[in-house]
Amino acid sequence: MKEKLEAIRREIEEGIGAFDSSRALYEFRKTFLDNKEGKISQLMKGLKDVPKEDRPAVGKTINEVKEWALSLFEETDRKLHTLELQRRCEAEAIDVTEPAKEGAVGSLHPNTLVQNELIDIFASMGFEIFEGTEIETDYYNFTALNTPEDHPARDMQDTFYLSPGFLLRTQTSAGQVHVMEKGKPPIKILSPGKVFRSDDDATHSPMFTQMEGLVVDRGISVCDLQGMLDLFSQKIFGEGVKTRLRPSYFPFTEPSVEVDVSCFECGGKGCKLCKGTGWIEVLGAGMVNRHVLENCGIDPEEYTGFAFGMGVERIAMLKYGINNIKTLFESDTRFAGQFRD
Ligand code: DAH
Repeated sequence: MKEKLEAIRREIEEGIGAFDSSRALYEFRKTFLDNKEGKISQLMKGLKDVPKEDRPAVGKTINEVKEWALSLFEETDRKLHTLELQRRCEAEAIDVTEPAKEGAVGSLHPNTLVQNELIDIFASMGFEIFEGTEIETDYYNFTALNTPEDHPARDMQDTFYLSPGFLLRTQTSAGQVHVMEKGKPPIKILSPGKVFRSDDDATHSPMFTQMEGLVVDRGISVCDLQGMLDLFSQKIFGEGVKTRLRPSYFPFTEPSVEVDVSCFECGGKGCKLCKGTGWIEVLGAGMVNRHVLENCGIDPEEYTGFAFGMGVERIAMLKYGINNIKTLFESDTRFAGQFRD
């Protein structure tokens, strides 16, 4: 019995240092201390074959070895646990000083950027926003704007009719009429929104965005229009930019003008962008035609006003050097993501 105990003790002493995980150590421990199969437990069971008078002494010795083994395993297990924890900490170490990976951040579409910028500019001049509807009646889109049926100016805009009286608005100018019908001057509104025309090439799209401006009050003159246009052009295209008005025709304004800005690319010397002319056409404008004021119940003897309308895509294309309007509608995030505030 003594030798057996000695052999067990040696076996434990020699084997215990070989483990680097508490799991493996546990398996080793079981071979000695498992309640049924363990070698020490087996010795305990063999006690019944020991002569009665020797049993207390032998039992005591077995117990001593058992106690010794238990505490040795416990201590080794604790050390292995500490070691394992240390290894895990090293493996999972996080360098909190390492710069964070940049996540993908979305960006506003160039058209939205320009639209927001335009709204900010006009809001800073005191314009209020009026959003009309995309479906309009023939009356608001044309007739009230001094363009009755059979008027040749209707041919300027190829219209999508929904039914004889209803259409997809071809111009945000339709908003002018709603505003003037409802409110009394002074009026100062900006009407942004989608418009629709049967038109499709590199610079035209069947759906595009316009912004209409309207100012009506006593004593409004072309000078007010020109002053506002100067300020607007400098804010959107840069400080040195000048404007010039060219005579034009729109049924709802008299006189009507086409507004050019001096080329912000070449400073007016002439380049590819301005096609060598030094000027770039940006919008249409004019003094509100007295018939339009009358149609909306505003006395043209008392009030005058100016109006202007521009294409947002056109401004975005000029500002960002985009040469095909289609790229603005393709939803390609590689394209849209290039433009930031
Ligand atoms: N509605 C015109 C168009 O779509 C743009 C325009 C021109 C609006 C002159 C105006 C204006 O208010 O005065 O082509």
